[in-house]
Amino acid sequence: MLPKEPDATPRDTENHRQRAIFLVGFMGAGKTTVGRSLAAELGLAFVDLDDVIRERTGRTTAQLIDAIGEAAFRPIETDALASLACVTEAVVALGSGAYVQESNRKMLASWNAWTVFLDAPVEVLLSRCRSQGIDRPLARDWNLFRQLYQARHPIYRSASTHIDASGEVEEIVREIKRAIEMARQEQQ
Ligand code: S3P
Repeated sequence: MLPKEPDATPRDTENHRQRAIFLVGFMGAGKTTVGRSLAAELGLAFVDLDDVIRERTGRTTAQLIDAIGEAAFRPIETDALASLACVTEAVVALGSGAYVQESNRKMLASWNAWTVFLDAPVEVLLSRCRSQGIDRPLARDWNLFRQLYQARHPIYRSASTHIDASGEVEEIVREIKRAIEMARQEQQ
C-alpha cells in the first residue's frame, strides 16, 4: 500500500473508488481526526503526511522546522508526498503547508488526486489549535497564524471539493461522504 518510491501503476481517472482522497486545509481544520474517521468508515487506509515525514527522517515536522527552518523543510515534505504516488485506496491528511506549494499541487493534479478542503473560520482554527496543545512552529505566534491563514485560504479553495469543517467530526465525515456519493453519481 505504501511503497517507498513512486512506480508507474496506471491510475483509474474515471472511478473515484480508485482515487486517494487528500484532505487539505489550515492547522486545526481536523485533517488528521476527520481523515482517520473517514478512512475507517470507507474501509480505506489512513495516511498522515506528517507521520510519513517522521518515519522517513526520524524527526517530527516541528523538530525539522526548528532545526533546519521552514524553507529547508519543504523539499523533505515534497519528497514524502512523492513517496505516496502509488497510493490509491487511502485517505491522506496533508500538513497545512503542503498543498500551498505549487509543485505539490502539480504532483497531486498529475495523479488525478481528489482533494478535499476542510474549511473553518480562523477563530475556530485558532481555538482548536490552542486547546489541542500540539506544538506547531507556525502556530506559536497568533498574528502569524492569522496572516498565514489569509495567504493560504485562496489556495486551498482550488481543491476539488470544499467542505465546511467548523462543526463536529461526525458531521464533517458525513458531508465528505455525501460529496463522494454525489461525485460518483455525476460520473454515472
Ligand atoms: C505546517 C503544519 C503542520 C506540519 C508542519 C508545517 C504548516 O501540519 O506539517 O508543522 O506549514 O502549516 P498540520 O496542518 O497537521 O498541523
